[in-house]
Amino acid sequence: MFETLTALPPDSILGLSAAFKKDPNPHKIDLGVGVYKDEQGNTPILECVASAQHLLLASETSKVYITPQGNQGFIDGMLRLLLGENSFVLNHNRVAAVQAPGGCGALRILAELLIRIDENTTVWVSDPTWANHMPLLGDAGLTLKTYPYFDKDNASIKFDEMMDCLSKVGPNDVVLLHGCCHNPTGADLSKEQWQDVAALAAKVGFLPFVDTAYQGFGDGIEEDTYGLRLLIDSVDEVIVAASCSKNFGLYRERVGLAAIICKDEKTRDIAQSQIQSVARGIYSMPPSYGGALVDIILNDKALYTTWTNEVNAMRVRMATLRQMLVTNLQQQNVDKDFSFINAQKGMFSFLCIPPQQVQQLRDEHSIYFVDSSRVNIAGINHNNVGTLAKAIAQTL
Ligand SMILES: Cc1ncc(COP(=O)(O)O)c(C=O)c1O
Repeated sequence: MFETLTALPPDSILGLSAAFKKDPNPHKIDLGVGVYKDEQGNTPILECVASAQHLLLASETSKVYITPQGNQGFIDGMLRLLLGENSFVLNHNRVAAVQAPGGCGALRILAELLIRIDENTTVWVSDPTWANHMPLLGDAGLTLKTYPYFDKDNASIKFDEMMDCLSKVGPNDVVLLHGCCHNPTGADLSKEQWQDVAALAAKVGFLPFVDTAYQGFGDGIEEDTYGLRLLIDSVDEVIVAASCSKNFGLYRERVGLAAIICKDEKTRDIAQSQIQSVARGIYSMPPSYGGALVDIILNDKALYTTWTNEVNAMRVRMATLRQMLVTNLQQQNVDKDFSFINAQKGMFSFLCIPPQQVQQLRDEHSIYFVDSSRVNIAGINHNNVGTLAKAIAQTL
């Protein structure tokens, strides 16, 4: 039966990792896959996670299933983190939520829920957006359309075009927005732009769908919720997919949260039953381990402080790397202004160079990143930044 299928090409990012591993050049640089790396190029277990693991090991007494909605301590902690300690919608019991297997799991659960509401639902995603949004949302049956977002020629957000497009979407359409640290461009909306988007959502009636995978990597843990919280203050309904992969360094443990802000408590109860049934129909119940670790960290004062310090250190390091790259490029006298990299947020930036030059950097300098010219800023360090800047200058 399976011979009727056709073989698919390897995933482009994972293929890039494989090519990097094979490359014998001792000076090769990996700026591909989106994982945080320290100065030594490692992705370490956070100190708060290591401590939580000890506590969990000492206290866990059973491996019996958890419930389809997941660990309630985790859910409550995450909702406080995303929506705020004194969130109006939380205090009024208007939020349905489940623990999900990663941000990807959260995106898919919410997509399946949207399909239950209306199988003809359209979701608008930014052009460009994270490549995996297409299969995660599209394979659930949602219709995907794009709104203008990033202008590669000027390395800036096409805000007027974006607003013009979103002003014409249907009142039952869904608009996916990156909560912070836009992947792949690193170009985030300003506070004023978020205010305009929130006002437009209220006027047009579209449902905002906020994907938050990098909370704390942009301007700060609290600051990075600005857009999400503003939307919740502006319209009755918002859906949220959050990931703990990057900011807790829990990539392989698959920890995320799907949340639905409803117009009232009665609707919240309906949405809660539906979202749990969606989860039950896909994987029954989420993995316990990673969510239990986040539960411990978010609900322990000392560990929470350690975590915030660790997230802040990662953010500051990435901002420093951005400056270092821009300075090194300036020192090479490149004929292109890369200062936009300093203004961008989080783990990614578009270098805004054509795919042929990306390929040339790979072939001639063993520098690996995706064809769109998205680089993982965290893959840069004091040792490789000079080589990187020189190679870019030569290629340009
Ligand atoms: C924009 C965005 N959303 C969601 C995710 C999902 O992350 P995960 O499933 O690893 O938690 C990612 C991960 O790269 C992402 O970049």
